[in-house]
Amino acid sequence: MIGRTNGRPVSITGLGCHVPDRVVTNDDLSKIVETSDEWIVERTGIKERRIARDDEALTDIALPACRRALEMAGVDPASIDLVVVATVTPDMSFPSAAALIADELGMPDAAAYDLSAGCTGFVYAIAQAHAMLSAGLARRALVVGGDVLSKILDWDDRSTLVLFGDGAGAVVLEEVEDGGFLGFELGADGGGGANLWLPGSGSRHFDEPEKYVKMNGREVFKFATRVLVSSAEAILEECDLTIDDVDVYVPHQANVRIIDHAVRKLQVPEEKTVVNVERYGNTSSGSIPLALADAADDGRLEPGKLVLLTGMGAGLTWGSALIRWTHETTGATA
Ligand code: ACO
Repeated sequence: MIGRTNGRPVSITGLGCHVPDRVVTNDDLSKIVETSDEWIVERTGIKERRIARDDEALTDIALPACRRALEMAGVDPASIDLVVVATVTPDMSFPSAAALIADELGMPDAAAYDLSAGCTGFVYAIAQAHAMLSAGLARRALVVGGDVLSKILDWDDRSTLVLFGDGAGAVVLEEVEDGGFLGFELGADGGGGANLWLPGSGSRHFDEPEKYVKMNGREVFKFATRVLVSSAEAILEECDLTIDDVDVYVPHQANVRIIDHAVRKLQVPEEKTVVNVERYGNTSSGSIPLALADAADDGRLEPGKLVLLTGMGAGLTWGSALIRWTHETTGATA
């Protein structure tokens, strides 16, 4: 799916993010599985990640992010009429994390549902919420991207354990006079789905249900490097823009080698590229809002800037969004 936005202009008016307190370094992991700080840094760029406590679930991590985003936007929670949560690790299958969040924050008029698109979830969710606002179906949306992947990782499998971390981000979407979302490109390839999957998590029964993430790292690496470039190129062309027009590039934070590859191919200057994977690892749907918060805090994300987001992940899925930033969003970390 690809398209330029052509309805009412909609933008991000509030941004919040939150990560668990517990920091787990590469050295900490090397006491659990056979790995080393050197291997992890060289292959992924990751130095540490945040890991939820045993009693911490997705909504515990997402709620502070939501409160911060609402406060920044200066909106009454009761005025939110749409909540979309992108996640593959909701508190439970149902009720949805979105319904729990809407209830907790006091949003009686909100439609609320979860969306599953792997690490691309946040980009899918802002595209959906944008469309509902732009068409006049909803007036004010809260969109959350977050995951607690530590709960579905095999803590004996070094090939996946070292890559991921927990975290969440939230944005408020509202109609604006000018600027905001310019276009989206979203895609999926279920044929490649078994390269990154959680086979024992649904209604298909296997003889030996596997309840932890399984990944073919090399295939995912090839996929990720390819779509990070092709999706960005496609949306830029669709919107009659070039990479030179982009002020802030926010790729999904999976692995610094994947990001470096995209930066080289797309020819994005380093100073325009947001990278924080060294601090958080891959937080799945939380990755892009966490990176946006960093860009806002280091002064790169200001009103008027053209922002390119590209995510990719399980599904396999990918997605890009182009946004003309409209609001001041520093201080997003809750
Ligand atoms: N510590 C030490 N050694 C390890 C570790 C580890 N944590 N994990 C694997 N190894 C070993 C392997 O067993 C292998 O050993 P062998 O040669 O004796 O068999 C060796 O290291 C090389 O393994 P490879 O899988 O070939 O290593 P590679 O260079 O491909 O790097 C990695 C692996 C980092 C997983 C890479 O393939 C990758 O980044 N893939 C993308 C995965 C990803 O980002 N997934 C995120 C989810 S999807 C998304 O967000 C897009």
